[in-house]
Amino acid sequence: MMIPVIMAGGSGTRLWPLSRTSFPKQFLNLNGVDTMLQSTVSRLDGLPVDEPIVICNTEHRFLVAEQLRQIQKKASILLEPIGRNTAPAIALAALHALRNNKDHNPVLLILAADHIINDGDAFRAAVKKLLPEVENGKFGTLGIVPTEAATGYGYIKANTTSTDELSDVEQFVEKPDLKTAQEYLKEGGYFWNSGIFMVRADRYLEALKEYRPDIFNICQLAIETTTTDCDFIRVNEEVFSKCADESIDYAIMEPLSQISGDSQIVVSPLIAGWNDIGSWSALWEIGNKDNDGNVIMTGNSTSKNDIIMKNSQNCLVSANHKLVATIGIKDLVIVDTPDAILVADRSMVQDVKSIVAELKKRE
Ligand code: GDD
Ligand code: MG
Repeated sequence: MMIPVIMAGGSGTRLWPLSRTSFPKQFLNLNGVDTMLQSTVSRLDGLPVDEPIVICNTEHRFLVAEQLRQIQKKASILLEPIGRNTAPAIALAALHALRNNKDHNPVLLILAADHIINDGDAFRAAVKKLLPEVENGKFGTLGIVPTEAATGYGYIKANTTSTDELSDVEQFVEKPDLKTAQEYLKEGGYFWNSGIFMVRADRYLEALKEYRPDIFNICQLAIETTTTDCDFIRVNEEVFSKCADESIDYAIMEPLSQISGDSQIVVSPLIAGWNDIGSWSALWEIGNKDNDGNVIMTGNSTSKNDIIMKNSQNCLVSANHKLVATIGIKDLVIVDTPDAILVADRSMVQDVKSIVAELKKRE
């Protein structure tokens, strides 16, 4: 049996103004059917898994509880008073899983709550393929065949060029610069790190203790001092706020891939229409386009009738509050929300982060 650990503590600022600190990407419904968190949980149906652990910020506890209730799923909800990135979040979940489980060495299936995966069967098959290796103590990752020299992803160098069988990992490099990413693509044999990991709870903690004893010690103390109120397990703020901010990628995967001898990491290729939708342009690229190449998105209080476009091409329009009409525009992103409107050139939407930074300064 595996225990899914769903990491839902990201701030998701790249989809501003729809995604906010109070309502980040993982809680958005971008496909008109369910939210990203809900799809992450539903995608587990058919896998040999126990009840998941969802780990998120205290601020989002009711969003998580309500979204799970809507799809009639149960989970342990672990609350971080403050975000310290994924290495500590996974440590808390691993310690909680060991504390609460009859199985001494549960396998954790570590998932991001904000990814699109179109082919659920392919995802489940890739996970099942990894399971025996992970039960034997290896770290497992799901690898995506790269299509461009993206710098927002980690890169995994496999020891074979197979895109359907398991391979040992020779090197793990978190978010390389553009030149390095371009060299990797030219060289071949690299995967993008999907951010989906599988590892036994005891193995994760052993590696953390070795590479980041500071994080291990604080998380251990933090889990010993949790309090439970209603269905929520709260991590102690005084203890956890002293923890370093570090991702699993830098804290564990990179150093683990550098040790000599047998590889400790195995990659399972995932060809399933995976996307981390890191921007509005990525959302346009994967969205359903009308005959003019426009992607239109609506919210709870709007419908398709609220978007009227004349002579407009290759735009993304998200109307969540008002009627939006466009005339004679091309390649724009327009996002309407009750208190903010974004109008941006589609090729420059990565700069929303500078707007978010500026807004933060004003707080
Ligand atoms: N609970 C919790 N607490 N969750 C967190 C925290 C935290 O402090 N920080 C991030 N998360 C969650 C996010 O919500 C997301 O689901 C996941 O952890 C990954 O964090 P991101 O911040 O989205 O990471 P990234 O996208 O920059 O990079 C990671 O994912 C890429 C693939 O999407 C890395 O693993 C890369 O190597 C990888 O390529
Ligand atoms: Mg991400």
